[in-house]
Amino acid sequence: MKVSILEDYEQMSQVTAQAIIDQIKQKPNSLLCLAGGHTPLKSYQIFVKTIKDQQIDVSQCSFVSLDEWVGLDREISGSCQETLYDSVFDHLPIRNEQICFFNGLATDMAAECHHIDNFIRQHGTIDLTLLGIGMNGHIGFNEPGVNPNQYSHIVDLDPMTQRISVKYFEQPIEVKQGITLGMKHIFETKTIILIANDIKKASIVKQTMEEEATEQVPSSLLQRHPHVHVILDQGAASLLT
Ligand code: F6R
Repeated sequence: MKVSILEDYEQMSQVTAQAIIDQIKQKPNSLLCLAGGHTPLKSYQIFVKTIKDQQIDVSQCSFVSLDEWVGLDREISGSCQETLYDSVFDHLPIRNEQICFFNGLATDMAAECHHIDNFIRQHGTIDLTLLGIGMNGHIGFNEPGVNPNQYSHIVDLDPMTQRISVKYFEQPIEVKQGITLGMKHIFETKTIILIANDIKKASIVKQTMEEEATEQVPSSLLQRHPHVHVILDQGAASLLT
């Protein structure tokens, strides 16, 4: 794992945004998978501003969903899809056909999984996946006890994920399941960027990077991927030896 430890959240976000931009410059028709959640929000702000300021062409890129809360779609503020539209897609000249996202309201969830798996297959594989880390080590919604041999699937959310979910929504919403890319997609990604900030992530970052890789801490399985760049602020890195 390549590790970058930056002074603060702002600098962590700068380095993260630049890494996504470098990928697009190097391969303009990249397939990118960008996490929702709070950690990448500043990176996305910087990413959008840089794309605009430097007039970088994103017309050939494609974007695939990492995950979604079952029962929610883009209409709900705090859904993964809404987060990505609000922070990235709505601000850039990106066409609908460049984007393929899980619909958490789909009536046929198995078809929804096939739809995403096929979109990825048509592109070969994901070029870059940007991941945050859940407090329990989940990546996407690959929760503790994950089966590492799955592509897209429905998952029962870990109790910790259900508890923490309230931070994303303006109104009380109970979420019990997620739909997510599987570990197999994540492992087949050419480059992975894993980001974390703040001291509250320090313990899970240490487990991810320095303790034995285990399915109980899905993020720790990334130790086995050959091209992972972990980008942290000092708080998140504070327990690393
Ligand atoms: C979101 C996602 C989740 C988050 C993780 C960290 O699409 O896949 O795995 O990355 O829960 O969330 P934050 O960044 O809010 O701490």
